[in-house]
Amino acid sequence: MRDDIFLIKAAISARQIAYAPYSNFLVGAAILDEKDHIHQGQNVENAAYPNGICAETSAIATMIQQGGTRIVKMAVSGGNGELLCTPCGGCRQRIREFASQDTRILICDANGLKEQFTLSDLLPHSFGPENLD
Ligand code: THU
Repeated sequence: MRDDIFLIKAAISARQIAYAPYSNFLVGAAILDEKDHIHQGQNVENAAYPNGICAETSAIATMIQQGGTRIVKMAVSGGNGELLCTPCGGCRQRIREFASQDTRILICDANGLKEQFTLSDLLPHSFGPENLD
């Protein structure tokens, strides 16, 4: 899909400005929101290691800052293509807050799409805002 390619390119370009001097593992993410806007993020590490943030978390913060409220689709670019760079557990839950079970997450390396999953593939039987109603 043409839309997918645009989002994938946004994730790959975000990855190029990741701040990852400790792991040297660069990750970029891009979110398509409900207004058709794209929000990018990249991992931002810290000398106090646990304070680093993932690319997905950074992209979500950018989306909220720019007025988006829903993740319609997301692309993540990390790694060299041998192993997939899927979102970590914490990021899956953060994505869950703003996405639907059938939201597609496009997993990419530096060159393009490797595989895609729905959020429910990555985080089945999840807990979300409606559980608090
Ligand atoms: N990382 C992400 O940004 N997203 C992922 O999906 C997996 C891991 C980051 C965290 C850390 O900066 C580096 O990759 C190595 O774990």
